[in-house]
Amino acid sequence: MQVLIIGGTGLISTGIVKHLLTRGASITMFNRGQRSGERPAGVAVLHGDRNAPGVLERACGARRWDVVIDMICFTPEQAQLDIQIFAGQCAHFIFCSTVCTYGIKVPPRVFIDESFPQEPISTYGKNKLRCEQLFLQAHTEGKFAATIIRPSHTYGPGHPLIDNLEPDPVAWDRIERGLPVLCAGDGLGLWVSTHRDDVGKLFAYGAMNTKTHGQAYNATHTQHQTWEHYYQTVAANLGKPVDLRCLPARKIWERDPARFGLLQEITGFHGAYNSSKATRDVPEFTCDIAFPTGAAETLIDARHRKALKSCANDAVYEQLVSAAEHAS
Ligand SMILES: NC(=O)c1ccc[n+]([C@@H]2O[C@H](COP(=O)([O-])OP(=O)(O)OC[C@H]3O[C@@H](n4cnc5c(N)ncnc54)[C@H](OP(=O)(O)O)[C@@H]3O)[C@@H](O)[C@H]2O)c1
Repeated sequence: MQVLIIGGTGLISTGIVKHLLTRGASITMFNRGQRSGERPAGVAVLHGDRNAPGVLERACGARRWDVVIDMICFTPEQAQLDIQIFAGQCAHFIFCSTVCTYGIKVPPRVFIDESFPQEPISTYGKNKLRCEQLFLQAHTEGKFAATIIRPSHTYGPGHPLIDNLEPDPVAWDRIERGLPVLCAGDGLGLWVSTHRDDVGKLFAYGAMNTKTHGQAYNATHTQHQTWEHYYQTVAANLGKPVDLRCLPARKIWERDPARFGLLQEITGFHGAYNSSKATRDVPEFTCDIAFPTGAAETLIDARHRKALKSCANDAVYEQLVSAAEHAS
């Protein structure tokens, strides 16, 4: 199986490549080569910037691929270019989308499956949805078989472990220093985190699986937890107790919309998903890494790289903690 992965050295890509190698696939990655040392042995690499005119087409368009996986397509223009380049040049195209395409409404039975209406609120979610529609249209028109995969929060070594407020949080350093940390609402919002090695299985084993053609799949763990529990798990890994202070999401977000945009887009709402369709069609997609285990691995790696973000001189966060104390 000849697979082209656009991206390849990123967080989820690393999990995909690992399982594609287990399957014995012949892998080529296309990226800018800015993350040296992250390419596993036996993987070919093509370098280039996908956004530079003609570069992706010249590097990848002349060959026939069994599978093309695009991990870094974010706009309809990029999707249209993919379709132009790979129509008739690949058998199966897999697009990495996001659960942000569902928006923020909580369904009657809490867990969102693929039948839930897609009403994204963010530019990111709206663009991903438009890309999904273009790839599924290309599928219907017979340009290639297309599959859409929608991860939720995906984590793993080499990348920061988000908290309820921020993609690269100061909370873990605060917990290490015995300082209180913030969470939106009452800390009882539902959340699911999936290790990149588990998410990677859905892409790697979904490849060339005809059941997935023309389909969209959530790619999430079955084990959901509250944010309060999430913080407790991370704190236990850091060997400290957690002192959680709560404020309404809006109060936090309004204080610094750019910094706390995650709350408005997704983490200020329940994020609970049902991935049983994926498990049905791709039985190899089992989520075997529990959050406490994966979080420990991710934090050990961050400590080793000295990459836990410092909480020093963070007046905005301190003000919000004071506001939470006054509110309680
Ligand atoms: N992580 C999550 O929680 C989450 C949740 C939902 C959906 N997603 C989706 O997951 C996807 C991200 O996948 P990932 O985790 O594997 O990626 P990632 O960690 O963001 O890594 C990006 C990859 O793309 C390459 N790249 C970046 N810009 C490029 C450019 N202009 N031209 C060529 N290559 C470029 C990077 O290598 P170079 O820097 O060397 O070019 C790297 O290999 C996105 O589509 C995102 O929407 C993620």
